[in-house]
Amino acid sequence: MTSGPHLPQERKLVTSIPGPKSQELIKRRAEAVSAALGMAIPVVVEKAGGGVIVDVDGNSIIDMGAGIAVVNVGNSANRVVKNVQAQVEAFTHTCFMIAPYMGYIEVCEALNRLTPGTHKKKSALFNSGAEAVENAVKIARKFTNRQAVVVFEHGYHGRTNLTMAMTAKNMPYKDGFGPFTPEVYRMPMSYPFRCDSCSSSCENSVLETVIHKIEKEIGANNVACMVIEPIMGEGGFIVPCKGFLPGLAKFCKDNRILFVADEVQTGFARTGQMFACEDEGIVPDLITTAKGIAGGLPLAGVTGRADVMDSIHMSGLGGTYGGSPIACAAALGAIATIEEEKLVDRAKELGSLMSAALNEMKKKYPIIGDVRGRGAMQAIELVVPGSKDPNPAALASAIKYCQQKGVLILSAGTYGNVIRLLPPLVMPEHLLKEALEILDESLAQA
Ligand SMILES: Cc1ncc(COP(=O)(O)O)c(C=O)c1O
Repeated sequence: MTSGPHLPQERKLVTSIPGPKSQELIKRRAEAVSAALGMAIPVVVEKAGGGVIVDVDGNSIIDMGAGIAVVNVGNSANRVVKNVQAQVEAFTHTCFMIAPYMGYIEVCEALNRLTPGTHKKKSALFNSGAEAVENAVKIARKFTNRQAVVVFEHGYHGRTNLTMAMTAKNMPYKDGFGPFTPEVYRMPMSYPFRCDSCSSSCENSVLETVIHKIEKEIGANNVACMVIEPIMGEGGFIVPCKGFLPGLAKFCKDNRILFVADEVQTGFARTGQMFACEDEGIVPDLITTAKGIAGGLPLAGVTGRADVMDSIHMSGLGGTYGGSPIACAAALGAIATIEEEKLVDRAKELGSLMSAALNEMKKKYPIIGDVRGRGAMQAIELVVPGSKDPNPAALASAIKYCQQKGVLILSAGTYGNVIRLLPPLVMPEHLLKEALEILDESLAQA
């Protein structure tokens, strides 16, 4: 069985974007839905499959966002659909803490097997990335009997109270939502494009600063855990300089601080590894996962050292819906798809294609300050030509152009000036090339 998409893999526009039906329905949205919810593209979706989204007007749009790195296996992948259908017919919910079922156990087994490190691991399942991060912090605090949590500039960890405190960017995630939970300390992040010491030969001065600040301002013996995305997602696909993450991991180990890799966005084949930590051989104490784990159904996990995961008292972790049987069935379908269709390798192939095209664009367009990423997680940072000043206006113009041509592209970045590309890993090459050509045109006019 392959996850062959059930919709024609084509870009096809039959109306302008948004078409008349979408426009009508978006009016209903405005009446019924809180104005606080954003909208990257003003069309209403009817179906989606493989690398395309089809709207209610019949436009087939190339999906370069995968629902923010969720449908890595494509929308409605065969194995996901079949597993979910079978599970819904068998039973929909018992609550794993009331009466357990095999799907949950099998997803934990898969996470323990797939995440970095050969040591004994255990997992627990939740509903969202933020919930996974919250639970990782709970676990780390209880295990270490310490309170401080170290996070990083440009980091994003979610929208709950604790994860808002951990998230760096104020607008739109935190503004006016305080007070935030205490004992969260933010450290400088290695950001090669914007860091003088990183962009010359990196002697890891940022690493030294982080260590110095932790030792002098918090006290390493007060830190329960350090939580970091191996590649910053919402922060703008910032790939830290080589040595930064291993240096942090070593400092954590030396000081009995738990190193928590937040792989909610980078996980499940996205970066051309099953997990981005693998790139520098890092074995985190705990790893948080969500998004790409279940082909679009809500599921998240915390996986880590068995001694850490088992240190929590009975019933100290859980939740009514965490690890729902339907989401677990979907996850088993998604994981089988990733493994059987070799999507880790596919992410590398898509990544090479994207990075070659983006680097060509950089030669032509001085608004591109930086091209970066790993595997099928690639980005360009837009600047005012001749400077490193962020250029969010060029970004808005490029994204609008792409939308009008039937390509959905997402933004990111602390300065709102990063175009990020996250195609489903099953996207056919012709579709990706077409999307890149349109991106090229959009930058020419921006
Ligand atoms: C690295 C990272 N952590 C946590 C989250 C929060 O996940 P969720 O939106 O499922 O709560 C996200 C979401 O974008 C993320 O990218």
